[in-house]
Amino acid sequence: MTTAADRNLTWHDVVIKREDLEKMNNHKGATVWFTGLSGSGKSTVADYVARKLHDRGIRTAILDGDNIRQGLNKDLGFSPDDRTENIRRIGEVAKLFTSFGTLNLLAFISPYIEDRDNARKIQNQGDFVEVYVDVPLAIAEERDPKGLYKKARAGIIPSFTGISAPYEAPVNPEVHLHTDKQSPEESATQVIKKLEEMGIIPGV
Ligand code: ADX
Repeated sequence: MTTAADRNLTWHDVVIKREDLEKMNNHKGATVWFTGLSGSGKSTVADYVARKLHDRGIRTAILDGDNIRQGLNKDLGFSPDDRTENIRRIGEVAKLFTSFGTLNLLAFISPYIEDRDNARKIQNQGDFVEVYVDVPLAIAEERDPKGLYKKARAGIIPSFTGISAPYEAPVNPEVHLHTDKQSPEESATQVIKKLEEMGIIPGV
């Protein structure tokens, strides 16, 4: 692979440092990465976390697979390579936002361990918080909030995660939620507690 220097690129160091931004925000930048099956509750829990943090005066940015795929990543489909590229790009976006002291909540199926690990590896230790939104496939399929499982079973949607494409569960996530047994409110509280423990946000 060619280096940045080979391509006549230099790194521009921004003048306002991350520490300055974090001091102003009164919390640290971080990437909170929700991973799980479609219908597991990633976006729902991320919304609850955002609401609770908003009430505490903490600004968040939500990056959601369904939304990002309608803009930034609208050229990508659901082949393994496209999913990898989807996660690579959004991992870079998350790294950038985190370096500006923003608290980012990402909701992507992100089915491959290697892709999630790569998104983690490009960040500083402690900046990446993996949240496994765990639910049995049968429950996600029963919920079927967008009617996609039905279409996948009927063969209308090919390569659908959990049905005809793989999902690789996290081995050692920072947070492990069971959304079939806990409410979105309880899940959000568990995530926020972890952010406090990690010193990303102040306790109340
Ligand atoms: S990922 O696998 O590349 O991480 P991402 O989170 O961006 O997926 O997008 C998943 C969303 O796209 C799902 O919630 C669903 O609404 C929609 N979708 C459409 N086709 C598929 C498919 N084949 N597999 C999974 N999700 C799909």
